[in-house]
Amino acid sequence: MRELFELINKIVLGYFKTRYNDLGKNQSGMYNYYHELMSNGNILREEDYYIACYIKENYDAEDVIHEMACGAAQLGHLLSLIGFKNVIATEMDKKRYKLAAGLGKILSSDCIIKNENSFNQDTTYDLVVTNNAVSSTTTFADAKEYFQKVLKSGGNIIINPNIFDGNMNRELLLDNFTKIEIGFTELEYDYVKLEVL
Ligand SMILES: C[S@@+](CC[C@H](N)C(=O)[O-])C[C@H]1O[C@@H](n2cnc3c(N)ncnc32)[C@H](O)[C@@H]1O
Repeated sequence: MRELFELINKIVLGYFKTRYNDLGKNQSGMYNYYHELMSNGNILREEDYYIACYIKENYDAEDVIHEMACGAAQLGHLLSLIGFKNVIATEMDKKRYKLAAGLGKILSSDCIIKNENSFNQDTTYDLVVTNNAVSSTTTFADAKEYFQKVLKSGGNIIINPNIFDGNMNRELLLDNFTKIEIGFTELEYDYVKLEVL
């Protein structure tokens, strides 16, 4: 898994560099966030690696997975490439969406990218996962309603509670779900797996 991850990361970085040279920082959909990751030499981060390993160990290849607020959907594409057959990633910014869709073509990923608000889905999922879901438009009330609507019975959310909606309403979020800590000792932050009460 580690070797595959490093290989994918190299391909992803090459794609970002080419796209940046062709379109520049903003038109490419990178903006500051991905431009900084690119400048540091890795688009896929250790978080992506450990979350993908956890999902591979704990979920079935047929499970329906939604990566919300996906950005370039590097995690969604990674999940598709390691064998998950039903991965959907949503991104509301049009340029970021194009970045994610272009990346999917380069990687021959089957992850479906949608240019939509992540909180506006009517499919049901076994797992919703997100990294760095920061949005000034997202409130916990929206998130709770959304999760109750779209999670299948027994479905989960995997989230980094330290970086969810700019840390707004963090306690409320955790209080309203059954919380299972997922300790990644290698990472600075712990992630949690949540189940709707
Ligand atoms: C900080 S980036 C993180 C991208 C990626 N998840 C990562 O960890 O690298 C946050 C992204 O979430 C997107 N986003 C925020 N709220 C969203 C929403 N409600 N629906 C879809 N995309 C959203 C933003 O447009 C932005 O591209």
